[in-house]
Amino acid sequence: MGELPRHIAVIMDGNGRWAKKRLLPRNAGHREGLKRMISLSEHAFGRGIEYVTLFALSTENLARPQEELGALFALFRKYFTENLERLKAKGIRLKVIGDERLLPGDIWALARSGEEETAGGKSGMLVLAIGYGGRQDILAAVNAAVRGGKEVTGEEFSALLSTGGIPFPDLLIRTGKEKRLSNFLLYECAYTELYFSDKMFPAFTNADLDRALESYAKRDRRYGKI
Ligand code: FPP
Repeated sequence: MGELPRHIAVIMDGNGRWAKKRLLPRNAGHREGLKRMISLSEHAFGRGIEYVTLFALSTENLARPQEELGALFALFRKYFTENLERLKAKGIRLKVIGDERLLPGDIWALARSGEEETAGGKSGMLVLAIGYGGRQDILAAVNAAVRGGKEVTGEEFSALLSTGGIPFPDLLIRTGKEKRLSNFLLYECAYTELYFSDKMFPAFTNADLDRALESYAKRDRRYGKI
């Protein structure tokens, strides 16, 4: 087995289609997705991956029907209240990124208190992107740089992104058959290895993650050099 990625990012797509195929409501797919997300991230940390970033809701997803959004918000609240002990026990630090103006304030309050409670974690970091858009994040960083009144270096610019301080992802996995980035970590993924799975997220097993890691291990990352 070759090298393990230090940071994996996952676009958890396909919850709705997974549910539809089973004649279940879309929300059942999200509930199953949450279970999968917890197991998958713990498996990744167990294997020694240090950072796991998960795309749970994009700025564009916020145009979905209120009923679906309400169910997703309920899952976020549930996660931020019921999973902190688990994270703390495993030494995992929580970080939540996204536009605070776009989701109900109580969700952000729970997210921030979850970040504080898990701040001592030394084994890994779980980054959840909710109400997040890569372009919007780049734009916010550009505006922050402009307000600073002087040109910034690449390093200074990265620090202004909501992922500031976190190394760029080594491997990006997208489940659910589509092959696009959908506004996720656009600046950060410039040299990230991409892995696409046809499986819907609730059906993407820990063994599937192992296969993605095997694929990563075989790749030759040249960063444009020869
Ligand atoms: C994309 O599938 C998935 C989402 C928009 C939501 C992902 C959320 C979870 C896995 C639960 C997250 C919970 C926490 C606490 C972060 P889709 O609905 O677009 O599926 P489709 O393309 O098949 O319709």
